[in-house]
Amino acid sequence: MCGIVGCIGNEKALNYLIGGLHRLEYRGYDSAGVVTIGKKGATLIRAKGKVAELEALTDKKPSLDTIGIGHTRWATHGEPSVINAHPHQAGDIYLVHNGIIENYKELKAELKNHKFVSQTDTEVLAALINSFYDAKTGLVDAVTQALQLVVGTYGIAVVSVRNPDEIVAARSGSPLIIGVGDNEIYVASDAAALIGYTTQAIYLNDGEIAVCSRDGVQLRDLSAQPISAKVETIDADMQAIQKQGYDHFLLKEICEQPRTLSSTLSGRVNVKENLVRLGGLNLSIEELSEIEHVTIIGCGTAYYAGLLGSYYLEQLVDDLTIDVVAASELRYRSFHLPKNTVALVISQSGETADTLACLREIKRRGVKTLGIINAVGSTIAREVDGGVYVHAGPEISVASTKAFTSQVSAITMFGIQLAQAKGMGKQDTTRFIKELAQLPNEIELVIKKQQSKIAKIAKKYAHYDHALYFGRDTLYPVALEGALKLKEISYIQAEGYAAGELKHGPIALVDDKFFEVALILDNWLFDKSLSTLCEVNARGGHVLVITNSKKAIEAEEIIRIDTSLDILAPVVINVVQQLFAYYVAVARGNDVDQPRNLAKSVTVE
Ligand code: AGP
Repeated sequence: MCGIVGCIGNEKALNYLIGGLHRLEYRGYDSAGVVTIGKKGATLIRAKGKVAELEALTDKKPSLDTIGIGHTRWATHGEPSVINAHPHQAGDIYLVHNGIIENYKELKAELKNHKFVSQTDTEVLAALINSFYDAKTGLVDAVTQALQLVVGTYGIAVVSVRNPDEIVAARSGSPLIIGVGDNEIYVASDAAALIGYTTQAIYLNDGEIAVCSRDGVQLRDLSAQPISAKVETIDADMQAIQKQGYDHFLLKEICEQPRTLSSTLSGRVNVKENLVRLGGLNLSIEELSEIEHVTIIGCGTAYYAGLLGSYYLEQLVDDLTIDVVAASELRYRSFHLPKNTVALVISQSGETADTLACLREIKRRGVKTLGIINAVGSTIAREVDGGVYVHAGPEISVASTKAFTSQVSAITMFGIQLAQAKGMGKQDTTRFIKELAQLPNEIELVIKKQQSKIAKIAKKYAHYDHALYFGRDTLYPVALEGALKLKEISYIQAEGYAAGELKHGPIALVDDKFFEVALILDNWLFDKSLSTLCEVNARGGHVLVITNSKKAIEAEEIIRIDTSLDILAPVVINVVQQLFAYYVAVARGNDVDQPRNLAKSVTVE
């Protein structure tokens, strides 16, 4: 949620600030703003809407200032507007914030000397820092005192006209990185903003405060004790964060899955030796063989990837019990974890607040945690006991696609390694290994053969405002994911259902306002799936069937994927759903990469 940037050095600050905000816009696009400090004092510029609106204003006010901070917003407190846009000001203090100050009302009541102009929790923090400001002790001391009173989450960057040679940045709960360049120090919510500027970065941990000046970076904790800074090298592939000729990042990320999935599998799946080896689990074969229960945690698409993965884990490991829980629910439930449990923590961004909170609670109980993570260096990746980077590359489009495919494959690889450690399911592990190795190519073939047909069919359904997705067994989680993808980018109200559940209520929805997406596998459940389809057809359903079967099927539209896969065919069917949702959203003229009301990484509750 929200993207923060800042820089101090010898270069014109606006270059990095505006460029960085464009890179972080997927974190929130309700409003944007910057402030730079120079000889004439502070220059504050804010705009409602996208960074492009802000840039139109900063272009009219070129500045040579070499220090500044900036923000792109996902609104939590107060509607999207210029008055609620960051940076927020109190006296000579300017602040940008990512997170939620939970006790802002109590703090606000104490700040009698400040005239509040916005509805935000952030302005309260700016006023609090200003209330502690003393020219003798300076900005960092005022920030430290203020943060000792704050309850909530924050990633912040603060500047002051009276301290024009420093930026104070701090984090607790929300991600923040300090980029160390040549005579330039950068602040950013994530590494995407730093690409092209520096490959050297300091990942701030919770409770750390950084004082950034032209001489470098000083770290301290909340009791003002100095801390040594660990500088790491970040992976900086500029191409990965560009559209490379595609109309949208979403289409690029769907179409590059054969390559990104190959990166997920590379060096881990060995068909010849019929082996899977995941290097980063930090579990011995003995420890693996003792695992009796797996709890899978995630949010949104990551949760659905966990759900599909759990079906494959079940097939691979006989003596395992598994539960899959949405993190936003688990964190407040009084849940029990059986002995010999391992928690699989699924997250693309590695920063999702609910998932992070569950991870910390499960670690507090002494249970092993394994991450299935995409974003390298992210908070969850740093805090799990072991895990797998899925190496799908930066995912810029808010709707997650390639991460889902790589997460399901990584969970499946974990299942194979677990089965092999337990000396189980030789037959199944061999089949899964073979199909995993074929999967990138099968996805490539389906995209090549079906893309234009899917685009054509999508146009036919783009005028509907309601949709019902249904599937059985492994296609149930895929139906949930398909409905989520359509919801997110087309704004069509879509429900995903277990096909067998339709007759227990949802089939009542079938009428001309709805279309249906029936997912059907050519396996032991084919006939069952067909009966559900017949029940919907019998009530005048407008059904699009997506299937790997060549058998006769009656439906308004059918997309048949010609694949040799069997167990993993649902992963390919999901790629068809991704393309379908994309083309429906394009046909409805929506902002496909930055859908309304959403953000790429949900760092608040
Ligand atoms: C998916 O398209 C959404 N962007 C959202 O549901 C996402 O999957 C969820 O917020 C979890 O994000 P994470 O994988 O980064 O933790």
